Amino acid sequence: MKYAKFPGTDITVSRLGFGCMRLPTLDTEGRPIDRPEAIRCLRYAIDNGLTYVDTAYPYHGGDSEVLVGEALRDGYRDKVTLTTKLPLWAVNETADMERILDTQLKRLSLDHVDFYLAHAVHDDSFNKVVSLGLFEFLDKMKRKGKIRYAGFSFHDNAEVFKKVLDSYPWSLVQVQMNILDENNQATMKGIEYAGSKGIGVVIMEPLRGGSLVRNVPESVLKLYDAMPVKRTPAAWAFRYLYDRPEIVTILSGMSAFEQVDENLKIFEEADANCASPEEKQLFRDVRAAYEARVRIGCTGCAYCQPCPRGVRIPDIFRAYDNAAIFDSFGPFFGRYQRDWTENVCVKCGKCEKACPQHLHIRDWLSRIAEEAAAFKQ
Ligand SMILES: NC(=O)c1ccc[n+]([C@@H]2O[C@H](COP(=O)([O-])OP(=O)(O)OC[C@H]3O[C@@H](n4cnc5c(N)ncnc54)[C@H](OP(=O)(O)O)[C@@H]3O)[C@@H](O)[C@H]2O)c1
Repeated sequence: MKYAKFPGTDITVSRLGFGCMRLPTLDTEGRPIDRPEAIRCLRYAIDNGLTYVDTAYPYHGGDSEVLVGEALRDGYRDKVTLTTKLPLWAVNETADMERILDTQLKRLSLDHVDFYLAHAVHDDSFNKVVSLGLFEFLDKMKRKGKIRYAGFSFHDNAEVFKKVLDSYPWSLVQVQMNILDENNQATMKGIEYAGSKGIGVVIMEPLRGGSLVRNVPESVLKLYDAMPVKRTPAAWAFRYLYDRPEIVTILSGMSAFEQVDENLKIFEEADANCASPEEKQLFRDVRAAYEARVRIGCTGCAYCQPCPRGVRIPDIFRAYDNAAIFDSFGPFFGRYQRDWTENVCVKCGKCEKACPQHLHIRDWLSRIAEEAAAFKQ
């Protein structure tokens, strides 16, 4: 296992972190956590050098925090840095923040956490909690010893990222990044900016929720196979990330013991600045190979909105392209039938006049509707 320090703190952690959003589950109604197996996975990871654990209020319907608390008994708490998060969407008045944190500490059976993050920051959610006194709350919780450091996890664009980053003396930022998402959300520029300000970066969704290791396209497999050193798609995806010196730790949601075992082995070589020029070229080529599978190419700018008939064009197109990239049309068509058949395109063409990409929006909407209807039969 390799380790890295959060700049400006006294905390050094393993570069592989355990993301407790996708713990092993039972195959029964509601897919509850498989408690013995989840505890075995967490403790095995810790016994083999992992020292960073990430959970949050909503994971597994609130049971992730309880499970983590159970797994960290018997001396394991002292071996890890623990993070949980304030659900911004549940904060409606100032007093909610400490009440929620107290609930979380109770679930965890602990008196404090190391990092406490504003969860899933978007511009709107962030503005709301700041106006309710988020910064004062975080300062107060540090003084009371309920949290050691504060941070935020992020799901908006690069501009909002910079604004939020500059608004408070954060000790950690958690962003989505993987070999495919370099130009999505905060982007690599955001990560570099955090690094330049001495704020440690934590990565979420390093395998894009597992998509980068399921149904890997032939074109991508060929690129991996051509490399002199052989690695699995998971190992390449992690290598792309741990190469970056700004990234302190990479959260992996590990839903099976074999994944824990494999990922621990992968992170034995997780040194920053390890990728050769050929490997950096591989990462660019892999991204291009995935992007070549995009069919429509909607950028989600939403200039086509609002559609007079309420058709959610950017949502539909982006989900369709995502399905094309990962060859996962089943879930897409299911969602299409469920969420997007009520508002029907009448081919007025207003959207096409506004689209900066000059997409043939009406043709694509017809085609997708036909494909979805055929899939249903
Ligand atoms: N703050 C936020 O807003 C936010 C949002 C998302 C995530 N997170 C945090 O970030 C963590 C990481 O994100 P993530 O769970 O999406 O991570 P991820 O690594 O992108 O995806 C996890 C999935 O990848 C697959 N996987 C992992 N290791 C593998 C291996 N060695 N071989 C094959 N498949 C493997 C598993 O898929 P299968 O289960 O299908 O086998 C697993 O469930 C979360 O657990 C959570 O703690 C935070």
